[in-house]
Amino acid sequence: MKRFPESWLMAALLLAFAGGLGAAPAKAPAACGACHPDFKKVLGDAHPAVKGRSIAECLPCHGKPAPDAGKNAFAVRIHRGHAAPESGVPCSACHEFKAGRSFTVKGGKRSLGKPDAADFARTRELMPVPGAATYLSGHHAAKQVSCAGCHGPAFPLRGGEVANPRCLACHGPMEALAEKTKPKEAHGLNPHKSHYGDIACTACHFGHQPSVVLCKDCHPKTTLVAPFDK
Ligand code: HEC
Ligand code: HEC
Ligand code: HEC
Ligand code: HEC
Ligand code: HEC
Ligand code: HEC
Ligand code: HEC
Repeated sequence: MKRFPESWLMAALLLAFAGGLGAAPAKAPAACGACHPDFKKVLGDAHPAVKGRSIAECLPCHGKPAPDAGKNAFAVRIHRGHAAPESGVPCSACHEFKAGRSFTVKGGKRSLGKPDAADFARTRELMPVPGAATYLSGHHAAKQVSCAGCHGPAFPLRGGEVANPRCLACHGPMEALAEKTKPKEAHGLNPHKSHYGDIACTACHFGHQPSVVLCKDCHPKTTLVAPFDK
């Protein structure tokens, strides 16, 4: 990875203090050091020392495709810190976006898909969720599962779905899941084993809105409650 001389760090620190901490740097909006003169404050002492002038400096060790459906604390936390519009850090601090053509991390070689302007707007809207642990996606973010954990490494598009094998990669196999939710009372229902057979997980578990128990439509007396139903 590239190393920057200590003198550069000193200059950045001086600039940061001169401009007041938290002030957006005038020329280089991607300069992390303006807001994070010391990364140890956000990353902790155990993290390897980083100077952090731009996101590209993180990429030699991070930003590779996560193993299929794996956890990715880096992707979760880098967005948690900045996704809320109040943070004052625009997506463009770290991403290069050409509507309908490309979306990448600045300085990164890997394509993150080709969202169009409306896809971008929709994901922008869902992005702050990692900070507020609401619904299924927020809960997963709290457990270090990033957007890519469910949606795959490309930018999530409008109308995006998540197929059962993806969920079951972490929660399966199906038999084990059904065993966990075996009804305790006689005539109780098992949401994961029924006359519906192979049902989509997302018939009940929604990513970004309250989940439901589909069975209630016809079995209104069931006491089943889906996690994150509000
Ligand atoms: C305009 C100010 C600003 C800039 C520029 C900025 N950040 Fe942040 N960053 C914040 C704020 C605010 C937080 C959330 C508060 C906190 O955790 O200290 C944060 C949090 C973080 C976190 C911790 C997230 C968590 O909660 O786990 C990391 C990591 C981080 N920033 C990295 C970077 C990197 C890398 C860059 C440069 C590409 C950068 N930041 C640029 C303001 C900024
Ligand atoms: C020299 C390699 C290296 C560089 C460069 C690097 N990191 Fe890391 N980072 C690690 C290692 C090792 C871990 C711990 C193992 C893991 O969780 O991947 C880690 C973990 C993290 C985590 C997750 C911590 C957790 O919650 O478990 C965050 C967030 C993070 N790094 C942010 C950054 C940011 C931001 C940058 C760029 C400013 C950066 N890292 C640059 C090596 C590096
Ligand atoms: C401080 C830097 C930073 C900011 C700001 C940032 N991103 Fe990212 N983003 C990254 C990095 C780095 C990756 C690659 C993570 C990986 O693959 O491990 C990434 C990956 C993504 C992905 C791929 C899915 C995933 O979970 O990895 C999406 C979608 C995304 N960003 C959207 C956005 C949007 C929308 C915004 C603005 C709200 C934004 N990002 C702001 C650094 C940032
Ligand atoms: C990358 C792995 C991963 C993927 C993919 C994934 N999950 Fe999870 N899920 C987790 C982890 C980790 C937790 C937290 C487990 C815990 O709290 O012990 C969790 C928690 C949950 C919970 C809450 C369980 C509880 O304790 O109440 C539900 C429900 C759930 N996931 C459903 C889904 C569904 C549906 C999908 C697909 C749309 C999915 N998950 C995809 C890893 C994953
Ligand atoms: C018919 C609605 C429905 C469908 C379809 C469904 N679930 Fe569930 N799921 C529920 C309900 C209700 C609960 C809570 C059960 C309980 O409280 O005993 C639950 C609980 C869970 C849990 C937490 C289990 C635990 O107690 O540890 C996970 C994980 C989960 N579901 C994943 C999935 C996956 C993966 C799929 C697709 C293969 C799926 N669900 C399909 C309704 C459903
Ligand atoms: C636990 C799995 C899970 C995680 C994590 C997750 N999603 Fe989703 N997402 C879903 C499911 C399931 C759907 C299908 C619609 C629904 O059920 O809400 C979906 C749908 C979407 C859609 C299409 C929605 C529409 O209205 O057209 C977008 C965009 C999206 N997700 C973005 C994101 C972003 C951005 C993140 C990270 C902040 C994320 N998702 C994290 C499960 C997840
Ligand atoms: C479209 C309506 C409908 C939905 C939705 C529905 N059921 Fe049923 N279910 C029925 C009917 C009709 C019967 C048969 C009549 C009876 O015996 O009460 C039945 C019977 C059952 C029985 C007893 C007979 C058997 O097959 O063992 C169970 C258990 C059951 N359903 C579970 C579920 C579960 C779990 C769900 C949600 C995944 C569900 N049902 C969703 C209509 C439905």
